[in-house]
Amino acid sequence: MKIRSLFIGLVAMGLSAAAVAADPVVIKFSHVVANDTPKGKAADKFKELAEKYTKGAVKVEVYPNSTLYKDKEEMEALQLGAVQMLAPSLAKFGPLGVKEFEVFDLPYIFDGYEDLHKVTQGPVGKQLLGKLEARGIKGLAFWDNGFKSLSANSPIKTPEDLKGKKLRVQSSKVLEEQMRVLGAIPQVMAFSEVYQALQTGVVDGTENPHSNLYTQKMHEVQKHMTLTDHGYLGYAVITNKKFWDGLPAEVRGQLEQAMKESTDFANKIARDENDKALEAVRASGKTAIYKPTDAEKLAFKKALVPVHKKMESRIGAEIIKEIYKETGFDPSRL
Ligand code: LMR
Repeated sequence: MKIRSLFIGLVAMGLSAAAVAADPVVIKFSHVVANDTPKGKAADKFKELAEKYTKGAVKVEVYPNSTLYKDKEEMEALQLGAVQMLAPSLAKFGPLGVKEFEVFDLPYIFDGYEDLHKVTQGPVGKQLLGKLEARGIKGLAFWDNGFKSLSANSPIKTPEDLKGKKLRVQSSKVLEEQMRVLGAIPQVMAFSEVYQALQTGVVDGTENPHSNLYTQKMHEVQKHMTLTDHGYLGYAVITNKKFWDGLPAEVRGQLEQAMKESTDFANKIARDENDKALEAVRASGKTAIYKPTDAEKLAFKKALVPVHKKMESRIGAEIIKEIYKETGFDPSRL
């Protein structure tokens, strides 16, 4: 009785249930990349701000580099409530049944970060995050990584150079199709397995933003890389909806503020982190970096943009059209 009155008294004094609880609320934040990447740094920033704004009522445990779960398992763990937060790449939502997210994988749909932000920071992005709720997931934000280069052990100057090559892709049907139109053989594989697959020749090549390539040391096992910028790789930060909705309103507000600021941070550092990683790959001298000419880039575009039409029935013609409208992309003008 006494304890109950004390508790009610503390709540009446303006302290939330979480604040008076002896144990902090723990958020396990699992991800698959290194700490020293845009996502790794943003997750650490979220931890710092979340713990600061909740004055310790929330403790965030960040598990990088697939130390807790690999790609597929982490999605299941979130839905089961074994982890509370993830930031999977947008290419990994198809297996959940939210196929619209694969719109971000369409080759050359964004000309750069400015185009991309019109979507992720506008109504289309909001609408996409909303689609996760039916799966018990709350979408909190989009975090940038960057634009992908293609790598292999032989030079890549034309789309034909990839014919017959086995190329690792994330679990996205759009990315599989993208490799198929090049005459390559797509191999879906968890991120944690890519380095070894490249090293042992299980696959011949892959695609990545430079920060991922460099921090996983893939450049040590790839002799050639071409700056095709053919597609985007970024993230949706997600949480278990039941967990999130069950937080005291005050704590949720503090976490929303921490998420807002870490999102601004992520999206500010991403371009620079990728530029720095590219320079580090160059300095390593292990991978020859090729910058395609305008004509060569156009050849890649012409080969890859037909993927948009081919994947329309999977992703939805409407959302593709909405993105074209936001960014001004017109496939007929190639
Ligand atoms: C990949 O699997 O290549 C990426 O999704 C890894 C990541 O999270 O950036």
